[in-house]
Amino acid sequence: MSHPEIPLKRIDHLRLVVGNARQSAYFYRNAFGFHVIAYAGLETGVKTEASYVLRQGDITFVLASPLTAEHPENARLIAHGDGVESIALEVSDVNVAYDAAVARGALGLLPPTFQEDENGVYGFAEIATYGDTKHVFVDRSRYRGVFAPGFKTIDPERYHPRSFRPVGLKSIDHVVANVEEGKMNEWVRFYADVMGFSLLAEFDDKAISTEYSALMSKVVSDGQGRIKFPINEPARGRKRSQIEEYLRFHNGPGVQHIAMATDDIVTTVRAMQANDVSFLRVPKAYYDMLPDRVGPIDENVAELAELGILVDRDDEGYLLQIFTKPVEDRPTLFFEVIERHGATSFGKGNFKALFEAIEREQAIRGTL
Ligand code: FE2
Repeated sequence: MSHPEIPLKRIDHLRLVVGNARQSAYFYRNAFGFHVIAYAGLETGVKTEASYVLRQGDITFVLASPLTAEHPENARLIAHGDGVESIALEVSDVNVAYDAAVARGALGLLPPTFQEDENGVYGFAEIATYGDTKHVFVDRSRYRGVFAPGFKTIDPERYHPRSFRPVGLKSIDHVVANVEEGKMNEWVRFYADVMGFSLLAEFDDKAISTEYSALMSKVVSDGQGRIKFPINEPARGRKRSQIEEYLRFHNGPGVQHIAMATDDIVTTVRAMQANDVSFLRVPKAYYDMLPDRVGPIDENVAELAELGILVDRDDEGYLLQIFTKPVEDRPTLFFEVIERHGATSFGKGNFKALFEAIEREQAIRGTL
């Protein structure tokens, strides 16, 4: 069977459905350093939902909340709480992308749709992926506006300019899915067969387990390596794993974390901590063992220890990373900040220390 190619370019944006988009926009702006660049809602003639477009470097988030009891996304909020509704992928031709995906077995949710305003034509289509998560194919080739028709542009310089503190996040490095036990390979096949992705790396539960919890993970990536999706499933442990905890509170599969790259993680994390972002911490002993484990690095280990930044090395180089605590009351979505120095992996060497840190949090929540 011959497969048409899906003409993927990059991650266009992530859309989060949240209970109160106005307050979430305040959080992502003031804690994570995003600019609010566009808005749609009652004031712009949209009667059913409010949406805020946030941007930092190449990263775009859309935060959306229903305005009415009839809005279909209310069911999503009840089931999952705040979280990622869709991962939008920019394509060079939305008709080709959608037809190819559906021909290759994707469940189509919305066929190619074109909206027009004074800035041109914006094309999009939707297919289903894990859980209630969607992929949106976005075609911007004939659209010059800041985001999409229906959105009013906001000048970030005039949006409460006194309080803005940038943190220096640049791009989305990877977006991680949690799926049910036994379903990881099914979704790896979906990304291979439908999206044309390839398997990047694999490690089994022995590599990433503690006494209590374990997971299995595989990473799929598009041909250019610009889009990377690790997919986790829970593995058997003595107690409930962090993936099971996620699946229980998210009520099914979904996006677990979004990793965002920076060129200067020390400055970024210092700024985010000054903005009161809460990060997972590992014990001091982690840093005593660090020079032996990862060898020479450019950064000052005492400074990394002060901020709680983790280090890992692979055959190609090293990486620095840190994880936030969940950003909502349910222990579901969290964020990673990452700085790569050649390394192309995802921090496997830190999993044990991280699992133990997460388990301390789980014990406090009574979900271990
Ligand atoms: Fe990650």
